[in-house]
Amino acid sequence: PKPKLLPTPPMGWNSWNKFKCDVSEKLIREQADAMVSNGLRDAGYKYIVIDDCWQKSRDADGNIQADPERFPSGIKALADYVHSKGLKFGIYSDAGALTCGGRPGSAGHEFQDARQYAKWGVDYLKYDWCFTGPRNAEAAYTIMAKALRESGRDIVLSICEWGTHNPERWAPNVGHLWRTTGDIFDAWQGKKDWSIGMVDILDRNVDSWRHAGPDRWPDPDMLEVGNGGMTVTEYESHFSLWAMLAAPLMAGNDMANMSADTRRILTNKDIIAVDQDPLAQPARRVRKDGDLEVWTRPLQGGDIAVVLFNRGAKATEMSADWALLNLPAGSRAQTRNLWSGEVKKGVTARVGGSVASHGVLMWRITPELAR
Ligand code: DGJ
Repeated sequence: PKPKLLPTPPMGWNSWNKFKCDVSEKLIREQADAMVSNGLRDAGYKYIVIDDCWQKSRDADGNIQADPERFPSGIKALADYVHSKGLKFGIYSDAGALTCGGRPGSAGHEFQDARQYAKWGVDYLKYDWCFTGPRNAEAAYTIMAKALRESGRDIVLSICEWGTHNPERWAPNVGHLWRTTGDIFDAWQGKKDWSIGMVDILDRNVDSWRHAGPDRWPDPDMLEVGNGGMTVTEYESHFSLWAMLAAPLMAGNDMANMSADTRRILTNKDIIAVDQDPLAQPARRVRKDGDLEVWTRPLQGGDIAVVLFNRGAKATEMSADWALLNLPAGSRAQTRNLWSGEVKKGVTARVGGSVASHGVLMWRITPELAR
């Protein structure tokens, strides 16, 4: 069986959303430094993952080689550097002959590559699905899972076949997380090549809660917070909803050049605590009324996380009453507004307020014991 490595969803940073193929050891070191200096490590972010395009070729013995111009010190030195910052190190490959970016894939080299990753000190592998021809996805990912296990190092396996081969049926037994969709792109909504906007990704993950749990996390793709294509309000919604889904929180921005808003969103400790709640039960959408949605998530100890989400074009009064939250009629609760920080005690009947266009209100509700 796979090693138990993710009792809660992984948190970290990945190079792809912002930097695509423009990766180098300099960039990765800068991002690791910034993860620490901007307080993301302290907020719980841990994995620094280089996505596609770090590879160049294979040597005569078939050993995978990093691009020597972009990674002149080699991957081992880079992994050591990331580890020296108290972080974990992740890398990327592909189950096909080539990666999506046209670099060598791991097909036929699974065991050799896994041994190499273990020697380098890799803690996390994102394993993509380009150029796989007629390969069976379950079989292909199972081979890499076995190779990682036999490498002797604990390595998270992040499955990335975009939900194309019913991964919810087999991925929970093979990897630690699996993508449910094609790629996100940095927009509220819409389509661009193979990518879809944030709420389109959300709509395809309404049922993901059925399959989630420790070491088996549906992955609605990485965060776009801070990449510039959405408003601050929309990024707050993106972050809130990903936390409600118990999604992996992989920052996808330039952490070395972050606005105060981006840092504030990515390091919101109360919302991260919802994502990382040890009960490991994602939210469900309990109401959808046109553009207005209510999502609720049970938390350990009987607390409840609630999101009121307004997809509409105008600010709208919304509320969730105790019946919808399964709280006893007449009972009292403490409510903490997770964006404003405002705490109220002795609240009865409902939470609510005016929800901005494309915005959320989000609370953590702690039932108060009846006297
Ligand atoms: C497709 C994946 O879905 C993306 O997240 C990224 O890894 C690219 N491939 C890299 O080529």
